[in-house]
Amino acid sequence: MAASQPTRKILVTSALPYANGSIHLGHLVEYIQTDIWVRFQKMRGHKCTYVCADDAHGTAIMLKAEQNGISPEEQIANIKAEHEKDFADFFVEFDNFHSTHSEENKALSELIYERLLANGHIASRNITQAYDPEKELFLADRYIKGTCPKCKTEDQYGDNCEACGATYSPTDLLNPKSAISGATPIEKESEHFFFKLPEFTEFLKNWTRAGHLQTEMANKLAEWLDSGLQEWDISRDAPYFGFEIPNQPGKYFYVWLDAPIGYIASFKNLCERTGENWEDYWIDDESDDVSSDNGRLNNGTELYHFIGKDIVNFHALFWPAMLHSAKFRTPTAVNVHGFLTVNGQKMSKSRGTFINARSYLEHLKPEYLRYYFAAKLTSGVDDLDLNLEDFLVRVNSDLVGKVVNIASRTAKFIQKSGGILSDTIEDPELWQTFVDANETIAKLYEAREFAKAMREIMNLADAANEYIAAKAPWALAKQEGQEQQVIDVCTLGINMFRVITTYLKPVLPELSRNAEAFLNTELTWANATQFAGEHSINKFKPLLTRVEQDQIDAMLVTNAAANTQAQVEAQTATKTVSKKSVHTIETGGETLDEPIADEIDFNTFAKVDLRVAKIVKASHVEGADKLLQLTLDIGGETRNVFSGIKSAYQPSDLEGKLTILVANLAPRKMKFGISEGMVLAAGPGGEEIYLLEPHDGATPGMRVM
Ligand code: 2FM
Ligand code: ZN
Repeated sequence: MAASQPTRKILVTSALPYANGSIHLGHLVEYIQTDIWVRFQKMRGHKCTYVCADDAHGTAIMLKAEQNGISPEEQIANIKAEHEKDFADFFVEFDNFHSTHSEENKALSELIYERLLANGHIASRNITQAYDPEKELFLADRYIKGTCPKCKTEDQYGDNCEACGATYSPTDLLNPKSAISGATPIEKESEHFFFKLPEFTEFLKNWTRAGHLQTEMANKLAEWLDSGLQEWDISRDAPYFGFEIPNQPGKYFYVWLDAPIGYIASFKNLCERTGENWEDYWIDDESDDVSSDNGRLNNGTELYHFIGKDIVNFHALFWPAMLHSAKFRTPTAVNVHGFLTVNGQKMSKSRGTFINARSYLEHLKPEYLRYYFAAKLTSGVDDLDLNLEDFLVRVNSDLVGKVVNIASRTAKFIQKSGGILSDTIEDPELWQTFVDANETIAKLYEAREFAKAMREIMNLADAANEYIAAKAPWALAKQEGQEQQVIDVCTLGINMFRVITTYLKPVLPELSRNAEAFLNTELTWANATQFAGEHSINKFKPLLTRVEQDQIDAMLVTNAAANTQAQVEAQTATKTVSKKSVHTIETGGETLDEPIADEIDFNTFAKVDLRVAKIVKASHVEGADKLLQLTLDIGGETRNVFSGIKSAYQPSDLEGKLTILVANLAPRKMKFGISEGMVLAAGPGGEEIYLLEPHDGATPGMRVM
C-alpha cells in the first residue's frame, strides 16, 4: 500500500512539441502515456512533477512566422496557446508548460555551453554548406529541391526521392533549387561549433547499459557506439530564431542544443513559483546514491524523460554527455515509445489518417482515446495501432458495457432504499480478488505496462458483471423478504465499481471525477480497497456515452478539411517551381495550374488511383457559377465531388452516367463543402467540356489502367 512506501520525488518530462505545428494523435500517444504515469504516481502519494514546454527555435519556426506574416514571437505565442488548450482538453495535466524561448532557458543554455567550452568539449572549424543567395540563408537538406539524379523525377527533396526511393546528398540533385526562394543554391563556407561527442564514448557505453534504457534501445545505441560517434554541430548561422552563442556574434545555438535544456528551464520556472529548489533535481550531487529500486538518486530525486524512438540519439547520447560534462545529473530513465499507426498504416494526410487533436476533440471524447491508448500501451518501443473500428468496439464494450454498467445496474436499488450502502460484504471471496489486484495493478502502472493493467481491470469488471447477473437484484427485488439481500448485493456491486474506477483514475480523470460525485468520496489508491459500508451515495447519472460511428465519420471529415486547409496554405507559401508549360483546366472550382512534366516514370503514374464512378446524383450548387455537385458511387463507397462543369452540363444529363474519378486525390475543402476526388474531363472550357465516359461493361469501382 502507498502508505508503507516512502514518498519519492519524481520529475517527469514529455518531448517538447515544435511551435510550428498542431498537436496530432501521434503526439498524444506520448503525452497520454506520460500523463497516466504521472497521475498514477501522484495517486500513490509521491511528489511527482510533470513539466513540458514548446520547442520554439529553429529555421522552420522562423519561416512559418514569415509565411503567416507575423514575428516569430507572435508565432510561438499563438501556437503555445493552441497547444495548451489541446493538452488541457485531453486532460494532459502539466505542472508547468513553458517555452524554450525563455529567460531561464537562455541562462541555462549559456551556462551549460560555457561549462562544455571550459572543459575543452567544444571544437570549431569551417564547413561548406548550400546557401540561398537570394534569401541569404544557409539551407538544410530539406530546404533544397531538385531533379532526382537517378529517375529524373522533378521536385524532389535534398536527401531522397519520393518516386524511386533513391537516397543521395543535395549536391547530387540535378538543377537544385532553394525550396524557400527558388534561387539556385551556391556553396558557402562558415565557422561552426561542435560538441566533441566521441570523447564520451566510454562514458556512454557504460551509461547506456546501466539500466536507464529499455534493452532494445540500449542495443540500438550500441550499434552507433560501436561504429564510432561523430562530433555534433551545435551552431547555426544568422538569420536563425534562437539564442546567440556567447561571444560569437551571428552564431546561434542549434535548436536541439537548447531544446532538452528546456526541460530544466521549465522546471526552474515552476520552482520560482513554488519555492522548491530546482538544483536538487538537476545538479549532480556526486553521491553515487544507488539506494533506490529505481536506480541512482540525486539528492533523493528521480528524473524521467518520455520520448519517441525517433529522438533517442538526442536523449540517450548527446544529452547525457552534455549533462555529464556540465556537472548536471543524468536521467534516471529515458522511456521510449513507438509510433502511432492508424488502421495499420503510417499516418497519412492523403488517406485522411493524419488526425489532428482538435478534429478529434470536435467530435469525440478525450477519454475514449486515453482508454484506447492505455489498452494498447506497453513498456516497449513497438508501434501502436489506432484501428478505428476496433476503437469503437473496444471503448463501448469495455467502458460502457463493462465498467459503467456495474453502477447503472445496481445504483437504483440502493437509491430506492434511501441511498445508504450496507456494511455486509455479500461475497468476501470475490471482494478479496479486488483487494488482491491492488498491488498487481500498481506494479503494472509503475512498469508502464498499461495494456496489462487494463486487462487486469477488465477482468475485475467481468467478474463484477457475472456476479450481478448471477444474483439478479432486479429479480430479487420482486421477491418478498429479499430487501436486505438486494441491498447487500448492490452494495458489493457499488464497491466493486468504486475499486475499478479508482484503478482507472490515472487513465480516466473525468469519469472518475463524476464517479467520485456519485460515490460521495474521493478515490485514492490507499482507500481503494477499504469496503465502504454504511456510506451514503448520490443519485447515479450516466457516466459515459457510447462512441457512435457517425462521430468517427464526422471527425474524419473535419480532419480532412483541416488538413486540406493547411496543405493549401503551405503550398501557396512555398510555391517555387518555375512555371513552364502551365496548363489550366477548370476542375472542381479550383484550377490545375501545376506545370506538366515532360515525362514521368511509370511508378509515379501508377500512384494515381483512377476508378469508374457512377453519377448517382447531380445538382446545382447555390451561389456557385461554375460548379455542379456530384454524388458518385465507386462500388460500395460514395463520394461527394464538386466539379467545374456547369457551363457544359445540366444535372439531369448526368445522373446515371458513368465517368472516371481520381479516387486517391486528397480531399479538398472548398467554399461549398469538401470535394473527395476529381472527375476527368477534356476540352477548352465553356460548353466544350466533355466528361470522360468508359465503354459498356465497365462498372462502378473498377480500376482504370
Ligand atoms: O522531435 C521533436 O518534436 C522535438 N521538438 C522534441 C524536442 S524534445 C526535447 F529535447 F526538447
Ligand atoms: Zn528518383
